Amino acid sequence: MINLKDPTLFRTENYINGKWVGGSGRHIEVLNPANGTLLAKTVDGNADDACDAVEAAATAFKTWSKVPAKERATYLRRWCELILENADDLGMLMTAEQGKPLAEAIGEVNYGAGFIEFYAEECKRVMGDIIPTVANDRRLQVYKQPVGVVGCITPWNFPNAMITRKAAPAMAAGCTVVIKPDAGTPLSALALCELAERAGIPAGVINVVVGSDAQAIGEVLTQHKKISKFTFTGSTAVGKILMAQCASTVKKVSLELGGNAPFIVFDDADIEEAVTHCVSTKFRNCGQTCVCTNRIFVHEAVAAEFTAKLQHSIAALKVADGFEEGAEIGPLINTQALEKMDALMADALDKGAKVLLGGARHKLGQSFFQPTLLNNISDSMRLANEEIFGPIAAVQTFTTEGEVVEKANATEYGLAAYFFTRDIGRVMRVSEDLEYGIVCSNSGVFSTEVAPFGGWKQSGIGSEGGKEGIADFYETKFHSLGGV
Ligand code: SIN
Repeated sequence: MINLKDPTLFRTENYINGKWVGGSGRHIEVLNPANGTLLAKTVDGNADDACDAVEAAATAFKTWSKVPAKERATYLRRWCELILENADDLGMLMTAEQGKPLAEAIGEVNYGAGFIEFYAEECKRVMGDIIPTVANDRRLQVYKQPVGVVGCITPWNFPNAMITRKAAPAMAAGCTVVIKPDAGTPLSALALCELAERAGIPAGVINVVVGSDAQAIGEVLTQHKKISKFTFTGSTAVGKILMAQCASTVKKVSLELGGNAPFIVFDDADIEEAVTHCVSTKFRNCGQTCVCTNRIFVHEAVAAEFTAKLQHSIAALKVADGFEEGAEIGPLINTQALEKMDALMADALDKGAKVLLGGARHKLGQSFFQPTLLNNISDSMRLANEEIFGPIAAVQTFTTEGEVVEKANATEYGLAAYFFTRDIGRVMRVSEDLEYGIVCSNSGVFSTEVAPFGGWKQSGIGSEGGKEGIADFYETKFHSLGGV
């Protein structure tokens, strides 16, 4: 049981058209990844529930899209305030269902609320245009109008912020949303609906359908004629399927997909800083974010120093149940994730990697894996090419700037990249040459609601956050006015 200050935030039914809906009687068991205990039995929604939610959202769109932006902003602000007031409980729900340490979970709740605050402000500043006319009897105007119903599929690694990052700009723009959260982490999504309801957000504007049949619900959200835009955060493999499905009705599509982030340490870098940020970007959420450091490239002249300091810092990380005081590394999401770590390790060892720290399942059991450091990494290893999505840090060395930039770019992914150097010329060159949507120099910290987050290449389409993050929720209309 989760000991919430406000137990009424614990919801287990779908939220459709402003009502808590029980569904067919089938259930999903939500388990705590740290110990396997049963947290909740939620409703197991299906394609019919998703269709009901789309109909509700389509009806609500007719009125919500006409509510003035300033008034929509007031609803969103109230929602944001309620989320912040209940941040401790929302963090508890998240740690219980997702595993991340409580402080990190509460951090995510605050990050998620930031998107609502930002878009409540931003929607008042989305402007059309008046274009200088081409004939005196005509006037040329451009309107920005909300796109319609938005289908959203959100991941388990950020059960709160990936919802608000999509829903807040959509709702602020005048759209209505149908959200399918991951079936493993639905409690955070449902609690957000409870608070949206308390904020007075009208029925049908936000709908959540929880279901284990991701394919059937996904087909509704990508193919239903009343959905105008689809947005997804998850793997590149699934994103490609969903994007293809959206083609049948030519939906607008935004995708936040996988990454293979390089972390480059040049020989003039501040090594202490580089180590600190390498640990935070590699081990955030137990390595389970799309922007986690995946490939560490260190100049050969500083490789020994950097690796020794990195080993020291990783060894000091506290691995524990996310509810334990001081926990820094929680469990992986499930046993499949653990099995993937085993397989990546076996492949790397087979091809000559050297284990400096960890390398195996953790004695805490369940889905805990030891924070791991490897070197002697070669290009043929799976962990040099695939998204690791776990607590394995793998160090390679390089000699020249040109060589490392080429290696960093030699991937189909292009989400986030990090590099450390004190040379301002190199900062400019490398930041321009890295083929990534997010480039971070001399820091590993960048996530914020005020700036665009999005991938190049097979890491995605579009951006979330910043002014870019609301633009896609509008259609552009050209009004040519004659007879003036
Ligand atoms: C992600 O990994 O998809 C989100 C990370 C972030 O927003 O910082």
